[in-house]
Parts: sequence; structure tokens; C-alpha cells
Amino acid sequence: MAKRIDVNNLNVYYGNFLAVEDVSLAIEPKSVTAFIGPSGCGKSTFLRTLNRMHEVIPGARVEGEVLMDGVNLYDSNVDPVSVRRHIGMVFQRPNPFPTMSIAENVLAGMKLNNKRISRSDQDDLVESSLRGANLWEEVKDRLDKPGSSLSGGQQQRLCIARAIAIKPDVLLMDEPCSALDPISTLAIEDLIQELKSNYTIVIVTHNMQQAARVSDRTAFFNIAGTGKPGKLIEMNETTTMFSSPSEKATEDYISGRFG
Ligand SMILES: Nc1ncnc2c1ncn2[C@@H]1O[C@H](COP(=O)(O)OP(=O)(O)OP(=O)(O)O)[C@@H](O)[C@H]1O
Ligand SMILES: [Mg+2]
Repeated sequence: MAKRIDVNNLNVYYGNFLAVEDVSLAIEPKSVTAFIGPSGCGKSTFLRTLNRMHEVIPGARVEGEVLMDGVNLYDSNVDPVSVRRHIGMVFQRPNPFPTMSIAENVLAGMKLNNKRISRSDQDDLVESSLRGANLWEEVKDRLDKPGSSLSGGQQQRLCIARAIAIKPDVLLMDEPCSALDPISTLAIEDLIQELKSNYTIVIVTHNMQQAARVSDRTAFFNIAGTGKPGKLIEMNETTTMFSSPSEKATEDYISGRFG
């Protein structure tokens, strides 16, 4: 059963700096949610709080709640490693492990989680994950070659394969297409459409057309000025956000008047 995420009154800090203030929102299961907003408004920061990757930064902390099916991910008895197994992440820059082969890269998350699986199960997992990331046909004859031997778009899909190999419920993607050409970008967008039948997806993007194409719901974040915290301005169905947003700031941003 797909799980829903509810964020309640989340404040996100780097030391004393309040980077994101008082965000409450819901992320629907098996759908695509896009986060948009100008640079520095806290999209990446907020995204990382959803799987407790924020707190690996020294001095970084949160106040408030992130509930997954009603369980607060920040409860003292919740293990952050298990949170990250259920809520996977694809970073902005493709970051395959350079010395590992393509196959080893796909299995890396599994190994980090200390899962022991048989050789034939490993082979099956490598194939199904690469198929899921729409990369299998391109790499099936060179699985033992280094991950760094792939093109940028292929590396990004390899990182997606690595993320889905651990079978997360939720996939967080921070500008997954920012380093990609238009063809690879469309391949990733197609993939996101396919993945959403199995996964809950949250994507950060600076590309308004991309948000409009791939997402079901869109959240607009904004920042009042340097040193001020980022805030959630509004969130709605993507079609509504792009046709008749409630807030002037949203309209200005999506129509390209600032940001
Ligand atoms: N590791 C960090 N330590 C201290 N401050 C940070 C850190 N990472 C980000 N910040 C600050 O937090 C604020 C939000 O940054 P964040 O990277 O979340 O913005 P963003 O919306 O993702 O921007 P962009 O669109 O440029 O990626 C910025 O003021 C940034 O300087
Ligand atoms: Mg960012």
C-alpha cells in the first residue's frame, strides 16, 4: 500500500540560520509532486528533510513533523537509515561510484543496507532495476564496465536504477535533468511517468514546462530576500497552478516575470 506524506509546521535550520519556515503540505502516493521556486528558496533543503538527509550536514536540524502514514520520521525511535531505504533520493548531479562497475553501482544501495542476496537474485535485481530506469538495452552487454564510462544521461539513469533497486516507496529527485540534453531529459520524464504507477515521486525543477508536463501537483516556494527563510507560497493541482494560481507571486514566477 502506497504511503502518504504529511509535513506539519516544518522549520529547517543550518545552525542558527532558518532556511525554510513553517511548511505544511501533503504528498499524495503514486503521483508526481513538483517543487518549484527561485534559486536559494530552500527546495533542495526541504527535499532533503523528507528522508532525513538534511541532518547529515553538521549543525543542520528541523522542527516540526514529517509523517509517513502517520508515523513521524523524526521520532527518536525511528532509524534514519531505514527512512532512507523507504524514501530514496536521486541527486542533481549524476553521482555513480566511479570505481564500481555498472552492475555494482545498481547494487550499491542494497549493499550499504547490508542486505545479503544470492548471485542469481543480484543478477535479476540488476536487470529489473536497469529496465525500470530505461537503461538496460544500452548497457546489458557491458555491465562490468565502470559507471563513469556512461554518458551524463546514462549516468543519471544509472543513479535512478540504483535508487529503485532498494525498492523505496518514495523517490526524491533534485533537478534530475539539469545536466541533461533535451533527448535525455524527455527520456527521464517518460521514465517518471512510468515510475509513478509504482512510486511516489517528488521532483525539484527549474523548468516550468517540465513541472507542467510531469507533475500532478505543484508546490511553489519563494524567498522574501537574502537571509530570509524560504516559504511555501501555495500548492495545488498542477493544471490549476499553471492556469489560475491564487497568489500573484506564483503567477509572476511561472510566467517568467522573476526568479
Ligand atoms: N550546507 C549548507 N549549510 C548552510 N546553508 C546552506 C547549506 N545548503 C544550503 N544552504 C542555504 O540554505 C538556503 C536554501 O538553499 P537550497 O540549496 O535549499 O536552495 P534551492 O531552492 O535548492 O536553490 P537552487 O534552486 O539554487 O538549487 C540558501 O540560503 C543556502 O545558502
Ligand atoms: Mg537546489
